Amino acid sequence: MNADRLAVLGGTPAVTSPAPRWPDFDERDRRALIDVLESGVWGGYHEAVGELEGRLAAAHEARYGIATSNGTVSLEIALTAAGVGPGDEVIVPPVSFVASATAIARIGAVPVFADVEPETITLDPARATAALTPRTRAIMLVHFAGCPADLDRFVPLCTEHNLALIEDCAHAPGASWRGRPVGSFGAFGSFSFQASKNLTAGEGGMLVTNDPDLAESARSIMNQGRRSGGAWYEHVRLGTNARLTGFQGALLLVQLDRLPGQNRKRADAADRLRSALRDLTGFTPHPPVGDPRVTGHAWHIFSMRYDASAYQNVPRERAIDALATEGVPVSAGYPHPLYRNPLFADHPHRVEPCPVAEAYCREAIWLPHHALLGTPRWIDGVVGAFRKVSVGIGALREVRSAREGT
Ligand SMILES: Cc1ncc(COP(=O)(O)O)c(C=O)c1O
Repeated sequence: MNADRLAVLGGTPAVTSPAPRWPDFDERDRRALIDVLESGVWGGYHEAVGELEGRLAAAHEARYGIATSNGTVSLEIALTAAGVGPGDEVIVPPVSFVASATAIARIGAVPVFADVEPETITLDPARATAALTPRTRAIMLVHFAGCPADLDRFVPLCTEHNLALIEDCAHAPGASWRGRPVGSFGAFGSFSFQASKNLTAGEGGMLVTNDPDLAESARSIMNQGRRSGGAWYEHVRLGTNARLTGFQGALLLVQLDRLPGQNRKRADAADRLRSALRDLTGFTPHPPVGDPRVTGHAWHIFSMRYDASAYQNVPRERAIDALATEGVPVSAGYPHPLYRNPLFADHPHRVEPCPVAEAYCREAIWLPHHALLGTPRWIDGVVGAFRKVSVGIGALREVRSAREGT
């Protein structure tokens, strides 16, 4: 009987072992770090960084890789190198990490928030088209959760209107669209190696591009405005220091070896969860139906829509508490669309109507990518927890959740 009783009400949790740890490492990572330590090349340029640039670019079918210190500054560099400047408008989805929009504001350009598609939660091409003005210079496409945005629509849209297409691939290393990896469909693809990401060294970033001139500009801005082949104290443009260290480069090379296998594992677990959740009204995965054009989803986030009306209007926060207490590491994700952050009161921006983004931020439940690295048995335990909560959730109508401040 106790097995049916929700853990949040004193029952036994459905999942008794934790999700796989993240970040993951073994002796190879340790060795790589020690090698850099002993090389004495702690700053400046370490050959591991060059190797990483080549390998990550090749993995995304791009000719050039430019390592940076993080995925925020890489977006700022990409925009600047692509010719976006003060007063220019850049269309961006409001469902993303704040950096997708602040990178635009930090270079003096104007983020224009346009709504996302309800299935993929990526920028809606029709909404983006409606947001164009003569001042629009670029589109910042976010492959949210690891799912490529509609590149069939955005590539011609940018060509037609002479806009720079920047792909924010922070969630999407290894994702692909019609068999082609994301990152080189437009001017730049930008990656983040921050601690929560599928490919991580704690911090770090990378730009990829197929354009030699853009690559040279980005590399120069990243490295204090120096030029390739130039003297150390020769600075040809306004740059910054956004270099990645050899420690991060060497660690990322080992992590990159694991990425394809981990992404396959994530995809298998996502398939398993998606088919199980099909029977549970009220927890609908994004996208609800697979799109054959998405040939690789990086599953940085397994995102679901919680429909409270299917569960006697029990609020999402109580469902999250119930699942978390069952041992499933869920969260509510971004609390609101980006334009609701107080920072935008002080920075020029424009907000197009975004009802889909608003609803999404009220209704989403997230499972992080490292949970998808659990064994099939562990994933079945997660499925069991969802079933248990969906059956017992009615009992939570009168119980205030911890998040609501009991
Ligand atoms: C979509 C997105 N873009 C950009 C960033 C910024 O990356 P970083 O933290 O490496 O600066 C992040 C995450 O942190 C992100 O999730």
